[in-house]
Amino acid sequence: MKRMLSGIKPTGQLHLGSYIGALRNFVNFQDDYELFCFIANLHCVTFYQEPQQLKKNLKDSIALYLACGLDPQKCTIFLQSDVPAHAQLGWLLTCQSYMGELSRMTQFKEKSAKQTDGITAGLFTYPSLMAADILLYDADYVPVGDDQKQHVELARNLAARFNNRYGETFVLPEPVTPKIGARIMSLSDPTKKMSKSDGINKGCIYLLDDLNAARKKIMSAVTDNLAKINYDKENQPGISNLLEIMSALSDEPIESIVNRYQGCGYGQLKKEAADIVCDTLAQIQEKYNEVIASGKMEEILKQGAEKANKISYKKLKKVQKKMGVDIF
Ligand code: TYM
Repeated sequence: MKRMLSGIKPTGQLHLGSYIGALRNFVNFQDDYELFCFIANLHCVTFYQEPQQLKKNLKDSIALYLACGLDPQKCTIFLQSDVPAHAQLGWLLTCQSYMGELSRMTQFKEKSAKQTDGITAGLFTYPSLMAADILLYDADYVPVGDDQKQHVELARNLAARFNNRYGETFVLPEPVTPKIGARIMSLSDPTKKMSKSDGINKGCIYLLDDLNAARKKIMSAVTDNLAKINYDKENQPGISNLLEIMSALSDEPIESIVNRYQGCGYGQLKKEAADIVCDTLAQIQEKYNEVIASGKMEEILKQGAEKANKISYKKLKKVQKKMGVDIF
């Protein structure tokens, strides 16, 4: 069975973009791959996080992993900081990474441009830690949204560089992005990605949003004045985004939705989009409440970390031996 690994940063609440671009795909893959899914809590402290809020976000993220359908009997779910080899290999790979390649990372450029009170070294070396996350498990595939593809490609480059320098050690990972929904856009500005770091705004639907609030966000989504329903990302980014969301959540092909809506107004399309999104959120939220009430999360994370620690420690030792850091 091929191996797959991915993670989500609990920087804020999980949103519809991360659900469509990543989480729901993890769920679909868990039957056919050996899947490792973790919460990237080390990756989220590159900016100050209020500790109590971070704890809540962490718990919610794990509960949402389970509520969205990840099954601990089928995949390994763990917290990044419970597996020390991530940070350890992260350092060793930081020492294989060049300043030039890290400074070319789009996410670093975008995030550092927005940062007003100091750019941490962690934000810069973030992709080396992400490479460690992936390479520790010999993951063949890494399911991610569009914005993380560049980081997976860097992980691949680092793996190849290491293998060349020290001999065959790492599997070269491949990013896997969904055909529909790899980049869900903000509802208030469809030229920008839907993002949790934008805080509470009209453009982002959180998985735990109140259903009425979510409906309102969809109904007030920015569109255009062309008065026709087409899938045309360049000229009609708002409508195309709604079509992608609908198609991803209902599995109806975009062309079929477009055909059904010929001659109809944007209001009708938005109403159906809101219905589909609210149905999805309602199901997730019902399961989320069950998971929180079950009190099972701690045990699931403990078992996940045990398995992840076994695999990753072995790999770390191998790397250290190859590098000459370990003697015996
Ligand atoms: P993060 O937490 O920003 O996002 C989690 C996943 O959701 C995808 N995503 C989106 N997809 C479609 N449309 C959007 N608007 C949208 N926003 C987010 C992301 O592409 C991602 O797949 N660095 C990673 C976490 C990470 C990781 C890893 C991932 C750490 N180590 C190892 C894979 C493998 C991140 O910040 O994702």
